[in-house]
Amino acid sequence: MSAPDDQSAYWNSTGTTKTYGHPLHTAWTARLARDAALLDYGCGYGRLAGGLAALGFTDVEGVDVAPEPVARARAEQPAARFAVLTDPPRLERPDGAYDAAFLFAVLTCVPDDAAQRSLVAELHRVLRPGGLLQVSDYLLQADERNQERYRRCEARYGCFGVFETSDGAVCRHHTRERLDELFAAFEPLDERELAVLTMNGRPAVATQLLLARR
Ligand SMILES: C[S@@+](CC[C@H](N)C(=O)[O-])C[C@H]1O[C@@H](n2cnc3c(N)ncnc32)[C@H](O)[C@@H]1O
Repeated sequence: MSAPDDQSAYWNSTGTTKTYGHPLHTAWTARLARDAALLDYGCGYGRLAGGLAALGFTDVEGVDVAPEPVARARAEQPAARFAVLTDPPRLERPDGAYDAAFLFAVLTCVPDDAAQRSLVAELHRVLRPGGLLQVSDYLLQADERNQERYRRCEARYGCFGVFETSDGAVCRHHTRERLDELFAAFEPLDERELAVLTMNGRPAVATQLLLARR
């Protein structure tokens, strides 16, 4: 497929006007020690990292490819640390550095197959064996508006599920098989579906996965 793997210009400009809404599942965060080393990958303006700090977690780091939201995160969430990724998905951390990682509404912003695989491989590298990965993202949506744009963009991007938003992002919704393949190096522990609003304020169904690094 030929979807762009670098959309940092979008996330640093138009993306700064968005509000994100995938919620933390506190039944899953309750499994973590309060001093666990936590990574919020694709942290945006620090919504989740701030939420984790507010829950009492003392070692929370957010990273993102876009400097503008990271600057906002630093200003609004002083209880967490933030860094800009200069060579995503590479993290300047040793193998097994984190006890848990969060990947919320980020895969949808990385439509390219190879870029998704590299991102997940890097998370696997920096998680300790048995470390937890919490993912929140989108399976293919059943409604006609989404189905129509999947069909319209399939030939251009070579993948059913990739689509263009009206304001210039290229995003992806996933087949179940795609997520299973991406996270094959993780053990599935739990899963749930929930209603969310997308960054453009539209209702959608999100899927959340709780995975353990093998
Ligand atoms: C939809 S937002 C979600 C932000 C945050 N996870 C939340 O739920 O509040 C997606 C974020 O992923 C970031 N992003 C996109 N591609 C990325 C990549 N390859 N590496 C790191 N961050 C990326 C964007 O800059 C944006 O801040």
